[in-house]
Amino acid sequence: MARATFLSFSPPCLSEQEIVAVSEVLRKDWLSSGPKTKEFEQTFCQVVGAKSALALNSCTAGLHLGMILHQVGPGCEVITSPLTFCATANVVEHVGGSVVLADINPDTLLIDESQIEKNLSNKTKVIVPVHYAGTPCNMPAINAVAATRGIAVVEDAAHCMPGKTTVAGEPVGSSDNLTLFSFYATKNITTGEGGMMTGPQALVDEARSFALHGMTRNAWGRFAKGGSWKYDVLQPGYKYNLTDMAAALGVVQLSRVNELFAQRMKIVGIYEEAFARNEYFVPLKQSAGVESSRHLYVIQLNLEKLTIGRDEFITQLSERNIGTSVHYTPVHQLTYYAKKYGWTPESFPNAYKVGQRMLSLPLSSAMSTDDACDVVAAVKDVCAKFTR
Ligand SMILES: Cc1ncc(COP(=O)(O)O)c(C=O)c1O
Repeated sequence: MARATFLSFSPPCLSEQEIVAVSEVLRKDWLSSGPKTKEFEQTFCQVVGAKSALALNSCTAGLHLGMILHQVGPGCEVITSPLTFCATANVVEHVGGSVVLADINPDTLLIDESQIEKNLSNKTKVIVPVHYAGTPCNMPAINAVAATRGIAVVEDAAHCMPGKTTVAGEPVGSSDNLTLFSFYATKNITTGEGGMMTGPQALVDEARSFALHGMTRNAWGRFAKGGSWKYDVLQPGYKYNLTDMAAALGVVQLSRVNELFAQRMKIVGIYEEAFARNEYFVPLKQSAGVESSRHLYVIQLNLEKLTIGRDEFITQLSERNIGTSVHYTPVHQLTYYAKKYGWTPESFPNAYKVGQRMLSLPLSSAMSTDDACDVVAAVKDVCAKFTR
């Protein structure tokens, strides 16, 4: 029997603590970036072992700043994965650069290092590995390719909280690459909208100025007691700063990161056990030697065993009150990119094939074990009903 209420794909896991923390900010006299934002940045540095951190109003903003700091512009190429959110590619277009896609490894769904090498040119300025579903890419290999050619690496770590690479034994965010996290509403920890940049102090300091109009002094530094109204603008920057209300939410979410991850793993465990042996789909295999934040529970349908396609599978789950999502329609199949670069679906065959049969099941620390059992029952019911 279908569950009585709709289970959304990734509800946030908020407690009374978050509500109190945001209310405290609302009762004070400073709402924009200020002491809470600073606390969020400092705590984040401690959690991931980052050298420096800058809170932003989105991960997209940070990716854009990454392109600017590495001077990507017309005539420059940026290599990334076709299996990512459009933001990763859009920021390259924003600065006038060209997107170069390197196909994924169909087993890990991560960018394939050998494809990166094939796509290198003397115009390559930046490589943007995407830690898809929270699984770190092979960073030692990617960093080595980049270092020998003087290419920068900007890590899209939107899905990584907490994420660790055990290849190097280091948490994502602790490297010398600019690394961008997302705290969007569906992410493992959330501030509603928000992001964090980590990286070396000098680059992050430069980003800090770009993130606030290019001003030499932020608003808290101007308006707080002892602050000065004076500022200069060294370059025209953007308005990418985080509010103290969002940061207050982030500080509490960060303090709960291990508790939230443990609950997420409980849900993953239920799925793994229920779906270990079935002929209808393959869950994403975990890469050896790395630790994932398990942001998404992605399955790839075995369409040969089903009488329906992926889209109808999603509709059937929705009729059983189970929300799902798809991560992602590959970048090269999005109209703008297909037209601009002349890409066909087969231009990146691995991403295309996977993109047609994949969906993400509900996964959130707010889910109960009963919710997870409802998902299992609905998925099994759809498979049984539409078996070929
Ligand atoms: C892989 C990836 N990169 C970038 C982003 C952009 O993050 P934000 O919404 O915080 O700008 C997302 C968001 O969903 C994402 O999934």
